[in-house]
Amino acid sequence: MSRVLTRVVSWGHEFLAEVIEPGQLVVDLTAGNGHDTLMLQQLVGPTGQVIAFDIQSVALQNTQQRLAESGVASRRWQAGQAPIPSAAGVDLVAAGHQDLQGFLPTAPQGIIANLGYFPSGDRQIVTQPETTLRALQQSCKLLAPGGRLAVVVYTGHQGGQEEGAAVDGFFSDLNRDDFQTLQLKVTNRPEAPYLQVAEKRC
Ligand SMILES: C[S@@+](CC[C@H](N)C(=O)[O-])C[C@H]1O[C@@H](n2cnc3c(N)ncnc32)[C@H](O)[C@@H]1O
Repeated sequence: MSRVLTRVVSWGHEFLAEVIEPGQLVVDLTAGNGHDTLMLQQLVGPTGQVIAFDIQSVALQNTQQRLAESGVASRRWQAGQAPIPSAAGVDLVAAGHQDLQGFLPTAPQGIIANLGYFPSGDRQIVTQPETTLRALQQSCKLLAPGGRLAVVVYTGHQGGQEEGAAVDGFFSDLNRDDFQTLQLKVTNRPEAPYLQVAEKRC
């Protein structure tokens, strides 16, 4: 079946799937309803490790439930419990992604972020430029060589344009000797979400 051409979330999954192998460590910076966390778990399989962050407990509950419905168990962690041990499975972390660095036991092969608000909850709680940039800086530092970072950016909500500008600047400023970058945009619908991808050179 062909994919919806403009569904950039799916293209983000595809770009990550190209470089992720079973058994590796991967990260979801914004767990939300757990779609991305589950996708990552399916890529790394039962021998791999997924670490997913969210600041809303309802998001982590929804993610845990989505995983459970697919037969995947998960562990729960909080701020102050870093670092997370290296172990196969899914770790759901109740902490901001800006603290990513302290939690990871080893270099991740793939990192995903779907920015903006939690669709099933309070739409006033949105990702913020300052914390998003901190998470992206740490992501690029920590990423394994050959690994990819995929970020879906939404500009329709209040503050979304500012966050988009900050994220765009971050990707375009990445050193070309260290990273390849790519942006995927719906050119005839400028308000649509878009995708930023970076790959760390080997
Ligand atoms: C668009 S939703 C994520 C969708 C999700 N990836 C999925 O597959 O359903 C954005 C999420 O980012 C979370 N969030 C906002 N600020 C955060 C932060 N500083 N650290 C971690 N998560 C954050 C929100 O609580 C919300 O659940």
